[in-house]
Amino acid sequence: ASVPQFQQAMPVPGTLRPTAVSGTTDYYAMTMKEVDAEILPGRKTLVRTFDGSFPGPVIKAVSGRRVVVRQTNRLTVPASVHLHGAHVPQSSDGSPMDLVATGGGTKTYTYPNSQPHANLWFHDHTHHQESETVYRGLTGLYLLTDATEQRLNLPSGSYDVPISLRDARFDADGQLAYSMGDVKRTVLLANGKAWPYFEVAARKYRFRLFNTSNMRFFVLKLSDSSPFQLIGSDGGLLEKPLEVDSVALSPGERADIVVDFSRYAAGTTLVLDNTRPLRPDDPVEQLGKVLQFRVGGPAADTSTVPATLRTLPALPAATVDRSIELSMDETGATQDAYINGRPYDMDRVDTEVEYGATEIWTVHNASTRMPHNFHIHLVQFRVLERGGRPVTSGLESGLKDTVPLQPGETVKIQATFTGYEGTYVYHCHMFDHAAMGMMANFRVRRTRG
Ligand code: C2O
Ligand code: CU
Repeated sequence: ASVPQFQQAMPVPGTLRPTAVSGTTDYYAMTMKEVDAEILPGRKTLVRTFDGSFPGPVIKAVSGRRVVVRQTNRLTVPASVHLHGAHVPQSSDGSPMDLVATGGGTKTYTYPNSQPHANLWFHDHTHHQESETVYRGLTGLYLLTDATEQRLNLPSGSYDVPISLRDARFDADGQLAYSMGDVKRTVLLANGKAWPYFEVAARKYRFRLFNTSNMRFFVLKLSDSSPFQLIGSDGGLLEKPLEVDSVALSPGERADIVVDFSRYAAGTTLVLDNTRPLRPDDPVEQLGKVLQFRVGGPAADTSTVPATLRTLPALPAATVDRSIELSMDETGATQDAYINGRPYDMDRVDTEVEYGATEIWTVHNASTRMPHNFHIHLVQFRVLERGGRPVTSGLESGLKDTVPLQPGETVKIQATFTGYEGTYVYHCHMFDHAAMGMMANFRVRRTRG
């Protein structure tokens, strides 16, 4: 049976309450466990969750205030919780081999929040398993704010809505089917519901969009092609808002947008469309629609999107240039994927980085057929060039931790590796590819006085 569209309301994920609060720190506790969720209307689907919600709960954090999260694992598999986009010590990075044991094992993660505001998210990172576990639901959002963001008068409260986007496939019993399988069974989810609707007042809304898919790229637009404002990317607000009519998100990426519904009459419906099918023969009525907005009456709106949102720090001069090649066995014979010709090895350091260094990494998708994307732990980076051209506006003019690469494409990024010494990973954020080996370790340490 096919899944009806726009019949369920899109929920807004709940904010997790701290278990204790001190002068410097907010303490949280979460239990990873399996529960039944209603993703498809009237059906129950077994999912893996943080604290019983699909997607997981939202943590709201403030720069300069520490967050400590005690995770208890009641799943049947181990887990490693990575806070994507965060600047954290290695011991709390949730690296692929740093596991929380199944059967009630616990681990306490400390997030210093010594970085500016950003839309972060947490997910399993257990090597070879992250792809399936994330697919089965182990994700949650982490909204980090600071004075720079708070000073602005952007839409807030119930007009500031995080939306976690992904795809999923279901078997005849309404259970998640993990293999790529039949594309006709693919469903798009927003905040854990299949093709939901969302009721909005005729005013401005801020939507924080997260692509939490394993493999799916989205290009999102409104069905009437009207413009909206792009205000932020992975690492927080852009310097200036940009009027756009679409926004592209590869797995792991975020976009912060403001949509003004005041131009619509009450009763108008419009759809958030996806114009980026994975394959040319993908069914458009399924994969081309994400969620429906139902516009109600007007509501008071004193929010504004100012012409200047923030100032990004000047780029320091880089002292190191590296070249990174992403590739995979495209014959499909070995299911191997590589960075610079080698599959991931947890015991190997692939890249030694001097503490404090500013580096330029030229990342090339050497694969001929597949798109990939590229994510580095520990840092937010800047995109200097895409395809040899300087990046001056749009999503990539802000701080980034993940960038897409079309077949044959090259991006040049720049990052400063400071704050913590330790070993971290960089990888393709299409989780199937990371699991196949498109991942490597870098080590930051002081070797000079
Ligand atoms: Cu979102 Cu290494 O991950
Ligand atoms: Cu990839």
